[in-house]
Amino acid sequence: MTVKVAPSILSGDFAVMGTETIRMQKAGADMIHCDVMDGVFVPNLTFGHKMVADIRKYVDIPLDVHLMIMRPERYLDKYVQAGADRLSFHIEATDQAAENLMSIKNSGIKAGIAVCPETPITNVFPLLEYLDFVIVMGVHPGFSGQKYIPETTARIELLCEEIKRRKLSVEVEMDGGANESNVRIIAGAGARVIVSGSCAFNSPNPEKVIAMFQCRD
Ligand code: DX5
Ligand code: ZN
Repeated sequence: MTVKVAPSILSGDFAVMGTETIRMQKAGADMIHCDVMDGVFVPNLTFGHKMVADIRKYVDIPLDVHLMIMRPERYLDKYVQAGADRLSFHIEATDQAAENLMSIKNSGIKAGIAVCPETPITNVFPLLEYLDFVIVMGVHPGFSGQKYIPETTARIELLCEEIKRRKLSVEVEMDGGANESNVRIIAGAGARVIVSGSCAFNSPNPEKVIAMFQCRD
């Protein structure tokens, strides 16, 4: 079982983000996760597409952009132009999810949808045909360093069963609350990308954390 690890720059030092992303790439990160927050969809504000464009100049690994903003359709093009390789938005933040996914895919990058813990995971089932990946949130979006909600594991399993049953190749990503003691459970449930904010960035030895999260055996 191999898992891709995406350190979330939400836990990095915003004043030196170029250096921070290089540090994660050197430590073995598979991609960089960029949490865009608008202070409306979630009770926190981070950064916009310029940060993504600027980070693009520092690292070669894919940029996984997670939009936590209302009506993401207003800005999808901006993030494509900024250099996102994977772009996701929340199912709860729009009434035109399928249209948005098609627009992202037509831009030539991977399209994903993120689902909050209180939203039934079955709500994404009608969209699976349009998706490259689904982000199952392990915490209420807004902040890093929160505790993993244990019910997330069963949600990942249910989603993976449905993807398998329909013979689709949608990747499942888990975002929020991953740590040393639950990473194997999350990967065992079927997640193939794991986001890590606090564990990756706050560790004195990010190489070790990333290698362990990759579950290489
Ligand atoms: C939460 C963000 C996550 C967060 C993860 O709203 O989407 O990406 O930064 O941080 P940890 O791993 O610390 O929960
Ligand atoms: Zn995220």
